[in-house]
Amino acid sequence: AGIFTAGFAGRRPPVPVAAERLELAGLAAMRPRARAYVGGGAGMERTMAANRAAFDRVHILPRMLRNAARRDLSVELFGRRHALPFLLAPIGVLDMAHRGADLAAARAAAAEGAGFVASSQSCFPMEAIAQAAAAGPRWFQLYWSSRDALTESFLRRAEAAGYEAVVVTLDTTQLGWRPQDLDGAYLPFLRGRGIANYLSDTVFRDLPFEDANPGERAPIGPGAVASVAEMLRAWPGGPLRGLLSLPEAVRAVRRFIALYSRPDLSWEDLPFLRRCTRLPILLKGVLHPEDAARAAAVGMDGLIVSNHGGRQVDGAVGALDALPGVVAAVGNRMPVLFDSGIRGGADIVKALALGARAVLLGRPYVYGLALDGEAGVRAVIRHLAAELDLTLGLAGCPSIAALGPDTLWREPF
Ligand code: FNR
Repeated sequence: AGIFTAGFAGRRPPVPVAAERLELAGLAAMRPRARAYVGGGAGMERTMAANRAAFDRVHILPRMLRNAARRDLSVELFGRRHALPFLLAPIGVLDMAHRGADLAAARAAAAEGAGFVASSQSCFPMEAIAQAAAAGPRWFQLYWSSRDALTESFLRRAEAAGYEAVVVTLDTTQLGWRPQDLDGAYLPFLRGRGIANYLSDTVFRDLPFEDANPGERAPIGPGAVASVAEMLRAWPGGPLRGLLSLPEAVRAVRRFIALYSRPDLSWEDLPFLRRCTRLPILLKGVLHPEDAARAAAVGMDGLIVSNHGGRQVDGAVGALDALPGVVAAVGNRMPVLFDSGIRGGADIVKALALGARAVLLGRPYVYGLALDGEAGVRAVIRHLAAELDLTLGLAGCPSIAALGPDTLWREPF
């Protein structure tokens, strides 16, 4: 109701309610390089389009006279009740949308009842983000490093910091082909920014690195050096402020590039992860039903159906199209979550009705950050929750649990 009365008072909210306008305004509020990085996708962006098209082919079939006056939006995940059925997705290098963005978004999520998933490539150390999100559910997203010692250290730190689950992102063993970024020639710029977690381990704890792969020498451009220097200067009271010289920072970026990913990852590696942590482990980026079945067979705790927002494989299946197959393959052995293309409350209804236990929100909250920082993220979450609540009510569903395949009508092919 507050949303409507604010309109009557003649105040124009800084964060547009309509998804398309949110995107336009959010992109316009960012610098060109950030705009390309956040808004862009892989190749010709056909998978980004497929993500939206998949939602357009699924329709809600509202039911009448079911007394849905009171709605329960909460869901349970890994023994914890979440007030809302969505979490903020892990987004790396978030500072480019808003200074201090990781902390602002974590606080906003906690305040509004949404979970928060902290990215491995955050601009603040995971410990600081966990603190900012402490009032709500917080998970840690892992990019599996080429060095076991670093993976182990990240997981130990995540547990100690109070994260409740680990999300292992499988679809980004290498960065996708992203023409907008390539044309902007700014990847080196990015690399320097999302390394807060890596800095703490590789510089200050000096985990073994150089000897492990002699001759590994990634080119470091002036953009990366400048952005690391800027990050270190800007770090508000952070642990690294003033502690790293520029040459050390360059060394840190070089280490990061060599360390962050593990392209030769295989199913045989999963037991190692299980030995490293007692937290529930979710695999993010699963689209094929056979991968889903295998994940369940080897005892993973959850899946996130996702194509990384169309940023990795151009031409990959729309994520929502892949969801029913994964849900069917897994049965009720573990929860299946979903992201890639969620732009409104009705989208959440569709994904949940197709079997997702909860969803993750990506780009829209970055636009909120760009427009109005923490308050902007809170507005985006509130808009989404309100539309979700209203849609459930109008569709005759008193709770998330009441959603199912019979909530939907699908166009015959
Ligand atoms: C991402 N995503 C991502 N995923 C992840 O596991 N770790 C990360 O660091 C990032 N970084 C990242 C940066 C940016 C700018 C974007 C847009 C996305 C993917 C993210 O978690 C999620 O899967 C997608 O954002 C979902 O797609 P939509 O809804 O944003 O289109």
